[in-house]
Amino acid sequence: MNDKQRVAHFAAQRIKNGMTVGLGTGSTANYFIEALATRVVTEGLQVKAVSSSVVSSLKAQQYGLPLLGIEHISVLDVYVDGADEVSPDLSLLKGRGADLVREKLLAKAGTEFWVLIDQSKRVQHIGQNFPIPLEVIPFAWQMVQREVSQLGGQGRLRPSGNGDGLAVTSHGSLVLDVIFPPELDTRTLNDKLNSISGIVEHGIFFGLTTTLFTGHDGRIIEQ
Ligand code: 5RP
Repeated sequence: MNDKQRVAHFAAQRIKNGMTVGLGTGSTANYFIEALATRVVTEGLQVKAVSSSVVSSLKAQQYGLPLLGIEHISVLDVYVDGADEVSPDLSLLKGRGADLVREKLLAKAGTEFWVLIDQSKRVQHIGQNFPIPLEVIPFAWQMVQREVSQLGGQGRLRPSGNGDGLAVTSHGSLVLDVIFPPELDTRTLNDKLNSISGIVEHGIFFGLTTTLFTGHDGRIIEQ
């Protein structure tokens, strides 16, 4: 078992009967979905699940987890997801998988937000290893790019997976990946990005994590 699997199994053990659980997206979230479904089948654990992406919905259905449509909920007991980067104040960078809107809605709807990572995701500041993804309304992308350049950001539209076009999210948005100057602190950047018209959502998750579980050399660190 690798650290991602171990941390996902650990978190799945924390889910209690009757909870409404948000399912994240990515390899760690997939391990969590599998571990949670195993408890449902083997222990008769009763949960309702809400998914953050089509891929996670398919995974949940494959394992027989009962799913609610996101439009049917306003709060969750817990949202469980991975992250691309986690800084010491538990801010996150997410969205390499592009669909940020549902992930952030579920993170905010969760009474708790559990983040599952291995040690490789720890960074000193958000944006250290990856650009910040901005999900933008297609016709606004140049206006957004101009505004972020005034903050010192350098952005480029994300190409599609096969490289012959642009990445398009499930809501029909484009993704502008932006490198910001490292001296811009996360809170300030989060506030500025929240205020730019044309940005549907962005990949900084500031002040949302309630518990971080890090798998590190076979151990789980909880903070
Ligand atoms: C998707 C995400 C993922 O949580 C993030 O990319 C981590 O993925 P993985 O668990 O595969 O390392 O933010 O938008």
